[in-house]
Amino acid sequence: MDTTRLGRSDIEVGRISYGCWRLAGHDVTSAAAVAEAHQKIETALDCGMTLIDTADIYGVDTAGFGAAEDLLGRVLAAHPSLRERMVVATKGGIVPPVPYDSSADHLRAACEASMRRLGVEVIDLYQVHRPDLLAHPADVARVLIDLRESGKVREIGVSNHSPSQVAALQAHLGDVPLATVQPELSLLHIDPIDDGVLDGAMAGGLTPLAWSPLGQGRLATGDAAPALLSAIDAVAERESVSRSTVALAWVMAHPSGPVPIIGTQRPERIREAAGALDVALSRADWYSLIAAAGRPLP
Ligand SMILES: NC(=O)c1ccc[n+]([C@@H]2O[C@H](COP(=O)([O-])OP(=O)(O)OC[C@H]3O[C@@H](n4cnc5c(N)ncnc54)[C@H](OP(=O)(O)O)[C@@H]3O)[C@@H](O)[C@H]2O)c1
Repeated sequence: MDTTRLGRSDIEVGRISYGCWRLAGHDVTSAAAVAEAHQKIETALDCGMTLIDTADIYGVDTAGFGAAEDLLGRVLAAHPSLRERMVVATKGGIVPPVPYDSSADHLRAACEASMRRLGVEVIDLYQVHRPDLLAHPADVARVLIDLRESGKVREIGVSNHSPSQVAALQAHLGDVPLATVQPELSLLHIDPIDDGVLDGAMAGGLTPLAWSPLGQGRLATGDAAPALLSAIDAVAERESVSRSTVALAWVMAHPSGPVPIIGTQRPERIREAAGALDVALSRADWYSLIAAAGRPLP
C-alpha cells in the first residue's frame, strides 16, 4: 500500500488506516474475543493499514471505558511481533459524564493509563479527542510537550478541533508541531472541505485522519440521498468496484491527503477497502460526487 507521513514527522503509515471504535464487544478478555480481534488487526496490517486508531473511551458502551485499548493490548501481548508492524494512535480527554477534560493532570494520567492498557512503552500518536472548552491551550500544549519530551508519546495530534482551536494550540506548542487533525470526513460529512480544517492542515503540514469515512456505514448500505448514491454507483460501475471503495477513494483524493480510518469488523470488508487505492477518480468524478453530496458548485 502507498504510504504517507504523519505531518512533518518521520512516522510513515499506510494511506488507509484501521479504527478500533467498534472493536470491543461485551467480552474483551476471553481467548475467543482476543482471537477475533487479532484476525481483524492482522488483516488490516496485511493490507498495509499500519495506523491503528483507538481511544481510551472506545468500548464504553459495551465492556466499559478502556475496553478497546485493553483488547488491542491483549492482541499485542499474544502476538508481540505485531507491535513493530503498527503505528499505535490513541486519544484521551473524554470523561463521561463530565464530558471533556484536557487539564494537564487528566491528560497525563489518561495517557499513562492508555499505555498500561495497550501494554506499550510509547504511544506513536497521542490525540486530544475533543476540545475541552475549559482548558487553556497553553496548559494543553504544556502537557503534550511534557508527554513528548518524557518519551511517552512520539507525536501529538487533535481530533474534532476547529481551525481556530488548532491554531490556538499550535501557537502555544511553538516549534513542537501537531502531526495530525482528525475530523469526521465523508461524502455524508463534507464540512471539513469548506470549514477550514483541511485548509489549515495543508497550511500547517498536518495529516488529516478522516473518521467514519463511510458515514458510519450509511454510504455502503445505501442510507443516503438517492442522488448521491446514484452518483457513487455510476463511478463504481465504471470502475467495477463497490460503492464503499469509491467513497473511500473520494476522501483520499483531497489534496490534503486524508487517511481514512475505516471501522468495519469484517475481514473481507477490510480487504475490500484496500481497493480504494486503485481507484483513480478524475477531477470531473470528484466534483460530480461533491455536487451530489449537496455542495453548491457555482
Ligand atoms: N475522533 C472521533 O471522534 C471519532 C469518532 C468516530 C469514529 N472515529 C474513528 O473512525 C473509525 C471508523 O469509524 P466508523 O466505524 O464509523 O467508520 P465507517 O467505516 O464509516 O463505518 C463502519 C461501519 O459501517 C458498516 N458497514 C456496512 N457496510 C459496509 C461495507 N460494505 N464496508 C465497510 N463497512 C460497512 C460496518 O459494519 P460491519 O462491521 O458489519 O462491516 C461498520 O459498522 C473508528 O474506529 C475510530 O477509530 C473517531
